[in-house]
Amino acid sequence: MHQNNERLSTEETLKWFQNSRRNFLFPVNELDQPKTYLCGNSLGLQPKTVREQIQEELQRWAQLGIDGYFEGDTAWLHYADLCKPELARLTGARPAEVALMNSLTTNLHLLMVSFYQPRGRRRKILIEHQAFPSDHYAVASQLRWHGFSPSEDLIILKPDLPGGVFSSEHILATIEQHAQELALILLPAVQYVSGQWLPMKDVTALAEKHEIPIGWDCAHATGNVPLALHEWGADFAVGCSYKYLNGGPGAPGWAFVHDKHHGRTMPRLTGWWGNNPQTRFAMAPTFDPAAGIDAWQLSNVPILAAVAVLAGLEVFSPIPVSALRAQSLHLHAALRAVLERHPDVEMLTPETAEAHGCQLSFGLRSGRESTRALFEHLLANDIVGDWREPGIIRLSPVPLYNSLEDIAQVDKSLTAYFETAGRSG
Ligand SMILES: Cc1ncc(COP(=O)(O)O)c(C=O)c1O
Repeated sequence: MHQNNERLSTEETLKWFQNSRRNFLFPVNELDQPKTYLCGNSLGLQPKTVREQIQEELQRWAQLGIDGYFEGDTAWLHYADLCKPELARLTGARPAEVALMNSLTTNLHLLMVSFYQPRGRRRKILIEHQAFPSDHYAVASQLRWHGFSPSEDLIILKPDLPGGVFSSEHILATIEQHAQELALILLPAVQYVSGQWLPMKDVTALAEKHEIPIGWDCAHATGNVPLALHEWGADFAVGCSYKYLNGGPGAPGWAFVHDKHHGRTMPRLTGWWGNNPQTRFAMAPTFDPAAGIDAWQLSNVPILAAVAVLAGLEVFSPIPVSALRAQSLHLHAALRAVLERHPDVEMLTPETAEAHGCQLSFGLRSGRESTRALFEHLLANDIVGDWREPGIIRLSPVPLYNSLEDIAQVDKSLTAYFETAGRSG
């Protein structure tokens, strides 16, 4: 799993982070100057190697045609496997537990087909109150597919703390309260609005104790916070590759199924790519499942899109997960200090290290209109974050390509904003 060197010296680590920014292409302003990009929570930047690696595969396609599936180090037949070691390291999975395939929502449906098995009283699904809409729709449609009704069978975990944040006690108590009627729990590893990192280990352990299958939406967590999906015993997880993994817009997602479920007989929607690679081309009408998560694959992999994902993953490979996290905490704390110096700023993201990743979500106490004005002001100053209703700005310093200089830019811009006459500071 953690096969990469976890033994870089402090000096080597510092140097690595100083240089890693150069691996990426930054959007530029009209003067051709790079913008301050703090939007990796939405779409990660393009690694410089992507263009060349796509060109190489285009060249192989031109020269080899169908033989590209079988020839060379990047033979397309096995291309998705090239992503496994790094995906496994970043998700804390065993390689047989994680695969690059489809997109997040598709994978969510595929894995709910296997893991949502309502029986008797146990038929409800628990999600949280601001579940990403796609997750909410997916879960509601699964309930209807089974003949149930979201209004009766969806349990919504409500936040007990300001800013839409959950205390661990509250999450655990809610699961305890509903344990006998739950057939599935689906939660975000990192909540996309507040940036809260949920206590995945404790929640997973409680779900296991009550034999409730639990799935994690890791869209905002992969490449952002250290994950240990195997060790924690998560039943399944899904993620995307276009945020912190820098795999490009609409990049293929990944899916995880814990190896305690491998080889079990469970309902599964199947396709030819999930067939054992040794017998796949026998083209038999009976399905011979591949080992582990690969049995959930449906279709052959979109190679040109997968090339960008692999290029993104390769940027991570020299750096230990612990060093990535240390740098992330450092940048997060620096940006938090800059934001919180202004009394009008109301921070949503929890402060405890175990409860956040890169992202900082905040609004202004003076209201939505002034928050929006600040957001426009940041954009006008070439600071790229993003906006979520009902008035939330999200800024994410990403250790791979952001630095204290980016945070200094935010500082300057915020100070100018609050110094302008008539604005409360
Ligand atoms: C938390 C979360 N879940 C699900 C999705 C949906 O992902 P996809 O469009 O890849 O299915 C997103 C997309 O941004 C997301 O942020």
